[in-house]
Amino acid sequence: MSGIGRDAAGAARAVAHANIALVKYWGKRDEALMLPATSSVSLTLDAFYTTTTVTLLAEGEPDVLELDGARVTGPALSKVARFLDLVRSQVDPELAGRGARVHSRNDVPTGAGLASSASAFAALAGAASTAYGLRLDRRELSRLARRGSGSASRSVFGGFVVWHAGDLQDPVAGDLTSFAEPLPVAEGLAVAMAVVVLDAGPKKIASREAMAHTVATSPYFPAWAERTEADAAGALEAIAAGDLTRLGEIAEASALTMHASMLAARPAVRYLTAQSVAVLDEVEALRAAGVGAWATMDAGPNVKVLCAAADLERVVATLRREGRRVLPARPGPGLRIETTA
Ligand code: PMV
Repeated sequence: MSGIGRDAAGAARAVAHANIALVKYWGKRDEALMLPATSSVSLTLDAFYTTTTVTLLAEGEPDVLELDGARVTGPALSKVARFLDLVRSQVDPELAGRGARVHSRNDVPTGAGLASSASAFAALAGAASTAYGLRLDRRELSRLARRGSGSASRSVFGGFVVWHAGDLQDPVAGDLTSFAEPLPVAEGLAVAMAVVVLDAGPKKIASREAMAHTVATSPYFPAWAERTEADAAGALEAIAAGDLTRLGEIAEASALTMHASMLAARPAVRYLTAQSVAVLDEVEALRAAGVGAWATMDAGPNVKVLCAAADLERVVATLRREGRRVLPARPGPGLRIETTA
């Protein structure tokens, strides 16, 4: 953290990068505290990020939200205001009554369909906590970001990151122990991601709803949760050992197992399209041709392909087709709290 102006409550700006899970988070054990059913493992990317400025308003003023220059009201503003309330519940009484103006900009290639709640809530956690004069360390920031969007806890850190499920027995202990942290990485493990953009539109169904529906109705959910703890442990070992093949195999299996759990929900949640499956075939063909490449998909049809940094150009060139965008991405940095306005 740069620390510039961290003592001066009033305004702060933060930048956070999106992350893609290699071992997925899908399902909460506590909706209010945003405690996940399992641990997850991710890679923070350089290419997509959110810059958020929070400026305190006068006592009693309502919160204001601006996204990419446009004033936003309705559910998006309510979600941000609830998050600010959480911050305000921890601050000095003379600041707790002040509303805030939140200005947020997403730097993602236009129409890439990758606007991310992970980078958004990590940036908001950094900027809001600083503007309201809270001095949070990285772990505390990760726990705070988690309350906005689970995956945001991971965007507090750069590179490979684990988000611990935390204590499963007791919610209070779980709240303290469910945070993200950066992972030790074997020297020489240089990875990249090719992001295949198939659909840039909004999600059919928000991940929050789809997750809750999967937990409530999918007979495969318990199997998914059990398998995921083992996959998270395996991914940590693979990252520490520099074993990209093992990591890639775990990542592709985790994504497909997550989608299987939602396909078994009643009614099914289906984000993958025929085009997603076509990309999976192409990734398999790359592997058959000797190129290490593994696919992962989130709450949408887009496919992200993990590979060695040295293979990125070839993977991008192979997956590019008429009318299909493929964006190269590399590991990105953790949250930066850059300045006060
Ligand atoms: O944090 P949310 O509510 O946006 O959920 C993220 C869910 C997935 O992207 C599908 C998986 C993950 O671990 O990021």
